[in-house]
Amino acid sequence: MTSIQPPSETIWWKQPLDRVEGTWIAIALVWSLIMFVMMPVWHIYGKQNLSNEAYRTTPAAYMAKTQAMVDQYTVRTMTDQQIPVVKPPPGSDVYLLGRLWQWWPILELEKGQTYRLHIASMDWQHGFSLQPQNINLQILPGYEMVVTITPDTSGDQTIICNEYCGIGHHNMLGKILVTEGGS
Ligand code: CUA
Repeated sequence: MTSIQPPSETIWWKQPLDRVEGTWIAIALVWSLIMFVMMPVWHIYGKQNLSNEAYRTTPAAYMAKTQAMVDQYTVRTMTDQQIPVVKPPPGSDVYLLGRLWQWWPILELEKGQTYRLHIASMDWQHGFSLQPQNINLQILPGYEMVVTITPDTSGDQTIICNEYCGIGHHNMLGKILVTEGGS
């Protein structure tokens, strides 16, 4: 029988299952169950997937929260664009926004301290990619992403935008500074 000819037995589903076919169905079933269980298990034990929360917001509301933090905790400015460097107290909620075409402001965090990092877009979709950790998040207008982070190495971390967002996309860089702490 070939697939070109119609099958001789048109009621094919009443034929007994071949042993090899049954074996493969069993293997596929067991494997799919293993993968299903691994999804939550790997989330907890894999140290790879970030737990995050997402809330509804508006660009104006989010801008107000970010501006309040910047007004209170700016310690200096950096780069030609005079981007504020903000050093909020350890353990606090810190705010970062993405817009055409920058990440704003520059956060200065202490190593070993835990922060709730909020991120939102002011205009359209951006991709938050923290290097060299390789943490990636989709940043959409109207949504506030929150991730709990504890920097474990000091130094400058670079944020790049990894979602194409127009003519300035390749220049959409940001920074998170991690200091040794205790200062
Ligand atoms: Cu923002 Cu690409």
